[in-house]
Amino acid sequence: MDQAQSLRRLTAQHRSTPVGPALRTMAITSGKGGVGKTNVVVNLALELARLGRKVLLIDADLGLANVDVVLGLAPKYSINDVIRGEKSLREVVVEGPQGIKILPAASGISELAHLTSDEKLMILQELDSYDTDADTVLIDTAAGISDMVLYFNTAAQERVVVATGEPTSLTDAYALIKVLYTQRQERRFKVLVNNVPDARAAKEVYRKLAMAADHFLGGLSLDYLGFIPSDPAVNKSVMQQKPLVEAFPNSPAAQAFKRLAITVVNTPVEQTSGNIKFFWRRLVNMA
Ligand SMILES: Nc1ncnc2c1ncn2[C@@H]1O[C@H](COP(=O)(O)OP(=O)(O)O)[C@@H](O)[C@H]1O
Ligand SMILES: [Mg+2]
Repeated sequence: MDQAQSLRRLTAQHRSTPVGPALRTMAITSGKGGVGKTNVVVNLALELARLGRKVLLIDADLGLANVDVVLGLAPKYSINDVIRGEKSLREVVVEGPQGIKILPAASGISELAHLTSDEKLMILQELDSYDTDADTVLIDTAAGISDMVLYFNTAAQERVVVATGEPTSLTDAYALIKVLYTQRQERRFKVLVNNVPDARAAKEVYRKLAMAADHFLGGLSLDYLGFIPSDPAVNKSVMQQKPLVEAFPNSPAAQAFKRLAITVVNTPVEQTSGNIKFFWRRLVNMA
């Protein structure tokens, strides 16, 4: 049996043997950089953890302030080391506040696309042997519409598009939705509006995006997920390298993250597609 065959067989096995609880996998995405994605991922992860979720955060954003910077962590290794076969996933994953797990993946993940099926099999086995009780995977995607961004957005069950009131944020969010819709047949998106004065302004941002999408892309569904207000505490927490919800738990933005986490927990998982092994398989096979 050649390697491609055994990869297919391993894949078939995962499909037929569900293990553990159904998983929520959410890509946090935006098109434009600097709109608050990383802050959203980190603070949502912490609030979900507080509600009892076991969160694995995949940091795939090569932005200025990565997840580890926002959390004040200094991970030694990344998924690169796993791909090179030098480290196990357990050695690469770091633990943050509230027991959340972080997989640094900002550099190197694009290497997945250049692997032979032999190497993919090796990585899939390594990912599979990682013993995790995670029930929620959040992915901080990069800005833009690179293959890697599309790839994570397609591997995840749910896509949360973060947009602000800035016109360029709206056009970039629309461009991302459009390419995911036309090239990857993704039909459902959730919109989280960030850095706006109030709910009214947030709804206005959502309305503009929904109108554009409705006008140009039939059959698309954009759900309003909520908003995070403009709040100087966000920037203060970034400067302190402490997550907002821990440094300023009573700030308006932190309170909004609490509400957002409750909304997420109360929303049923879309198209339940198995456990974390299933997710790894999608991730590796898609590259
Ligand atoms: N709700 C908010 N209120 C005020 N400033 C914000 C808010 N959200 C984000 N910011 C600012 O935007 C900057 C960029 O956020 P970040 O999460 O790094 O964006 P991205 O990951 O999308 O590039 C933050 O350092 C912060 O100063
Ligand atoms: Mg970022």
